[in-house]
Amino acid sequence: MPCEERIHLSPDESQDAEALIAAALTRVKNAADVEQLRVLEREYLGAGGMVGALLASIPTLPPDQRKATGQRANRIKAAVEAALAERKTALEDAALEKESGGGAFDATLPGARVERGSLHPITQVTRELEDLFTSMGYVVLDGPEVERDWYNFEALNIPKDHPARDAQDTFYCEGKGDLVLRTHTSPCQVRAMETMKPPFRAIVPGKVFRQETTDASHEHTFHQMEGLVVGRDISVGHLIGAMKTLLRGVFGRDIEVRLRPGYFPFVEPGFELDAKCPFCKSGCSVCKQSTWIELLPCGMVHPNVLKSGGIDPEHWSGFAFGLGLSRLVMLRHKIDDVRHLLAGDLRFLEQF
Ligand code: DAH
Repeated sequence: MPCEERIHLSPDESQDAEALIAAALTRVKNAADVEQLRVLEREYLGAGGMVGALLASIPTLPPDQRKATGQRANRIKAAVEAALAERKTALEDAALEKESGGGAFDATLPGARVERGSLHPITQVTRELEDLFTSMGYVVLDGPEVERDWYNFEALNIPKDHPARDAQDTFYCEGKGDLVLRTHTSPCQVRAMETMKPPFRAIVPGKVFRQETTDASHEHTFHQMEGLVVGRDISVGHLIGAMKTLLRGVFGRDIEVRLRPGYFPFVEPGFELDAKCPFCKSGCSVCKQSTWIELLPCGMVHPNVLKSGGIDPEHWSGFAFGLGLSRLVMLRHKIDDVRHLLAGDLRFLEQF
């Protein structure tokens, strides 16, 4: 703002207030932006500004001039305030119009829609199960995805030459000692035993990896949830009870189960737990017309595994289960190809 444009107002000047107001209004009207408005506001209305100086001078004036001077100051103040507000709105409107591409701004138009994301179905089921199990006194643990051969196999009663190693085609980390990408969440059983004193209950949800040819039911990366309970006199009855609670949590009602013998080196006895198909009464594509769904491998923790974890099998026993989270999500949402789960295709993910 060039200085010579400034109008100096002093009480003894006989300049007419109307002229002052007119000058102020012209300057305000011509202000090019909000910053200039601020300068003018300070100049006229700020502390030490023109109006303030006028008001401050009142006590020094002869009594007969005081009232008129006060009125003059207030008139200028009100006029400048109104002009500033009006110019500010005009500048803002212009900016909005420019932003909206120069067209008229229609305040009644609906706003741009904000897209909302959603949780991945595996995350959803993991969180539900974490809530369910923590409510039953389980702790939720995490373990490394790059795992030592010892935890993934040896400590689980699967020595080097054991044929069970072939059943889990493993990604070995070349040149990295005994590191593998964990083929299951079971290694966390031994890790849990090492870090917690029995009795305890734990679940470990996580990603696992298998080196296999992918197809609709096989994927190199998928999700499991390990469960482990160690305590005194833990029995198969406890195992079945926990599994039924799990299924009730997942499907929202009681589901009939049956146990078949299953072989896993780290449990003895080991079982395959089948659930009565929640989708049909007499056979459907999900249960392959059998009315049973193979769902949960499980068993009583092998004494050798307790020993690997530093727990005395003479005093403690336990059960373990390995829930296929990916498979569970597929069942729940009737997804026919496991590869959809991690493909990152929004057309798929937006459905959840
Ligand atoms: N870890 C096994 C797998 O991925 C599944 C499993 C079976 C886990 C039996 C268990 C169990 O805890 O008791 O094939």
